[in-house]
Amino acid sequence: MFITFEGIEGCGKSTQCAKLMEHFIRQGHDVLHTREPGGSKLGRELRRILLHPENSDLAPASELFLYLADRAQHVASIIRPAMEDGRTVICDRFADSTVVYQGYGRGLDPKLLHQLNDVAVQGLWPDLTILLDLSPEIGLRRALTRNLKENKANTEGRFEAESLEFHGRIREGYLTWAALNRSRFLVVDAAQGPDQVFASILRGFEEKGIE
Ligand code: TYD
Repeated sequence: MFITFEGIEGCGKSTQCAKLMEHFIRQGHDVLHTREPGGSKLGRELRRILLHPENSDLAPASELFLYLADRAQHVASIIRPAMEDGRTVICDRFADSTVVYQGYGRGLDPKLLHQLNDVAVQGLWPDLTILLDLSPEIGLRRALTRNLKENKANTEGRFEAESLEFHGRIREGYLTWAALNRSRFLVVDAAQGPDQVFASILRGFEEKGIE
């Protein structure tokens, strides 16, 4: 099984990824937990470039192709081999982040981005994508506080520095894209506490017939 998490900055993806990983491990799955950007060796170098605030002048198309390069390498060297070994893969952000951030956020065509994603993933699409839906006012505040606490604002703060209006477009973009891909998406209200959010995810699994 290949499961991805999506959502705006500060929506709680890392916490829920960790909870789901523990849940699957308890059920006896062999789980790989990975993320984008930065899940592969090449990806870690691309991540530094993509998230560093000094690169605030990246052209939208350059940004796009760097994310796609990260994904192509990640799928080829990490995700596909893990799937072939029968492991369950949980990925923090994946192809939908490109459709939403570079598409609804930066103004590139979401349908074209979907096709370019397919070049990068070579047909390996998630079985399920969990969208943690949260208002950008709450998410951005959480993300900025976390970056300050973890001392990341100067190295990984490029997207957190975008306006509230940008993050509002990202949230709406996710909801639009999820509605267009209803069978793959599980949309969960992320404004609740972490345990309630996880309970909603498990309820969603039951509804979709996932063990
Ligand atoms: P990250 O620190 O992983 O953010 P978060 O903790 O919110 O997941 O940073 C990833 C950033 O990169 C995030 O702001 C979204 C952006 N992004 C894109 O714009 N396009 C993409 O294809 C991906 C994977 C991420």
